[in-house]
Amino acid sequence: MKSLLACLGLMIAGIATALFIGFHDHTGNKEIVYDDDQEGLQDQIIFTFSHVVAENTPKGLAANKFADLVNEKSGGKIKIEVFPNGSLYSDIEEIEALQNGDVQFIAPSTSKLGMLSPEWGVLDLPYAFTDYNAVKKGLNGSIGTQLFDSLKKNQLKGLAYWTNGFKQITTNQGPVKTPGDLKGQDLRIMQSDVIEDQFKLLGATPHQESFNSTFQLLENNIVDGEENTISNIYSKKFYNVQDYLTISSHGYLGYAVMTDEHFWKAQTPETRRILTEAMKETTEWNETYAEQMNKEQLEEIKKNSTIHIYELSDKEKKEWMKRLDPVYRQYEPIFGRKLIQELLELRKDS
Ligand code: LMR
Repeated sequence: MKSLLACLGLMIAGIATALFIGFHDHTGNKEIVYDDDQEGLQDQIIFTFSHVVAENTPKGLAANKFADLVNEKSGGKIKIEVFPNGSLYSDIEEIEALQNGDVQFIAPSTSKLGMLSPEWGVLDLPYAFTDYNAVKKGLNGSIGTQLFDSLKKNQLKGLAYWTNGFKQITTNQGPVKTPGDLKGQDLRIMQSDVIEDQFKLLGATPHQESFNSTFQLLENNIVDGEENTISNIYSKKFYNVQDYLTISSHGYLGYAVMTDEHFWKAQTPETRRILTEAMKETTEWNETYAEQMNKEQLEEIKKNSTIHIYELSDKEKKEWMKRLDPVYRQYEPIFGRKLIQELLELRKDS
């Protein structure tokens, strides 16, 4: 019995010693148990990137890649928090949020920038670009520079052009083969007067509505159809609530990645270097990946849905171009002859 009590006493003493050693270091200071991941967090800078599309799209993936690259290049010191799907701001709110300093990076479709300067509408002209090469030449050249320069008066800074691709038409009132087939249809469009005028010219009724309301507008038959890239049609499942898809490639959809000029100037040269390098790498990646993604997702739509797909032939596209040509003349006094000429020049090389 004595030896049993001695044993128990030793055990209690052992546990007490272990507890004491476990919580105190050799200096007697109390050790706080903490998670290594939290180390240095007080020095971390957090910026916000808001956008409206799904993550598995050219813009969604590019935003995530940018965040990863910034994290890597800054050794974890700069964190970009990405909010997709309009979860933070809708396309109608995001420019103001950027100007108010509520978000540091946005990448709106260029179609939505007409509210800042009307020249942005030049990129919405029908068949403005006929292939990805023309997009690259135009936006990396003089057209892109002029448009970014126009942001300065709003104290905004253009960081890069990201691409998505060419817009197609979906509707429940189809099939749409000729420009006349859109007559009488109600269509959801982006916030762009040029897009509005081109659909009016075809006898349709366009409605400028936010991207994140589009699925419901289609599902509840409030509109008959819409125009968008394959990646948006796929990732937002518009093909599930639409019967017809016309591969018309009648317009371009790309993004201006922007920040606020005051915010940019307030950063250290090192932070600006990291952000600039990450943006450059992301943009190169986006240029090669966007086209492939739209192609792959069209195949997925073909495999997984019953939507009727019609692809315009080159001859039919020429008919659409001719029918929509008056929009160029209508907007020449607004955009200036020079800008429109520069755009048309690109067609010669494609
Ligand atoms: C749309 O509103 O349809 C697009 O601009 C969405 C996007 O950002 O791609």
